[in-house]
Amino acid sequence: MQTVNVATPGGEYPIRIAPGRLDTLAATIPDDATSIALVTNPVVHALMGDRVTRELAKTGRKIITVMLPDGEAYKSLDTLNQIFDAMLGAKLDRRSVIVALGGGVIGDMAGFAAAVYMRGVRFVQVPTTLLSQVDSSVGGKTAVNHPMGKNMIGAFYQPIAVEIDTEVLNTLPDREMSAGLAEVIKYGLILDSEFFAWCEQHAAALRARDPELLAIAIRKSCEYKAWVVSKDERETGMRAILNLGHTFGHAIEAGMGYGQWLHGEAVGCGLVMAADLSAELLGFPTADVERVRNLVAAIGCPVQGPRLEGVDQWVSLMMGDKKTEGGQITFVLLPRIGESIRRSAPADMVARVILRNTA
Ligand code: NAD
Ligand code: GLY
Repeated sequence: MQTVNVATPGGEYPIRIAPGRLDTLAATIPDDATSIALVTNPVVHALMGDRVTRELAKTGRKIITVMLPDGEAYKSLDTLNQIFDAMLGAKLDRRSVIVALGGGVIGDMAGFAAAVYMRGVRFVQVPTTLLSQVDSSVGGKTAVNHPMGKNMIGAFYQPIAVEIDTEVLNTLPDREMSAGLAEVIKYGLILDSEFFAWCEQHAAALRARDPELLAIAIRKSCEYKAWVVSKDERETGMRAILNLGHTFGHAIEAGMGYGQWLHGEAVGCGLVMAADLSAELLGFPTADVERVRNLVAAIGCPVQGPRLEGVDQWVSLMMGDKKTEGGQITFVLLPRIGESIRRSAPADMVARVILRNTA
């Protein structure tokens, strides 16, 4: 088993990574927990719900299962309320523990519920998609979408542990694997050129789910994310580098309608657009823009975005993102592979990048 620790001002918690972690979850539930709310969706529950429930039953605690509808389109306040209805209906108290079993949508919603249910209960992340294992389950960002913007209603709230069972990825659809790999290569782009080159070298094998290479990619991603979060838990500065590609990506997700493009697909395409903008604004080498484009294509993500209703809609959606400061869109950009900075960019330059990279 590999363990990566996340240190935050509020305390430290472990990310444990190994095949078969689902079968040891009971040990993660604190002794003083009174009950467990297992938050999941029908797709994940059909695959592993009974197994996890049997494991959690070893604690002897009351367990309720909260079944949320599957998909980004349901990452909303209405769905969140279903968690509160179920927990209040079952009289779960402040010493209950929420277990989030699923991808980033379940993790973000269950985490937000944990942050506010009775002003805060403990929660455990059990991420079951590659994207959630390498990114969303770590670092305590929790949220739901609002019709006017993605992840607009939420809280920073850290789990007490992240339990990553690498074997659960065997059932993940190929498209979801590709989406998760986009967040993996993001770490190389913002922090480590050698890791980016490693991803280039192993793109095909990672996509084909080579277990040893995937385990390395997951551990290294968790280490990068833990390091950034430990420096800046609440995104007052450097944590924003984790948003490379996300300003473009969120515009794609919102403009197409949540759920049409997977979050990771939109981020993958956004990485290409951010690299292209970096070339215009910072002199990022054009040969490296092609390396980014080729790697995003090699992991199976789209490299060309949708036109939407034109540049104006793109800009208006990007302006609505949380990264806007004082009316200016702040992009995460790359002076070179492995290094990232935040900058605003002239409107005509942004428009050219949008036009060049959409169809
Ligand atoms: P997701 O949660 O929608 O899961 C993708 C699909 O895979 C779903 O249909 C799910 O039911 C299914 N699934 C889950 N595990 C499976 C398995 N083992 N086998 C087969 N199918 C499985 O999508 P995601 O990509 O995991 O997460 C995307 C969400 O994460 C977005 O809402 C995004 O905003 C959020 N996110 C949050 C953070 C953060 O820091 N909190 C970071 C990145 C992304
Ligand atoms: N995924 C961006 C962050 O966690 O900050």
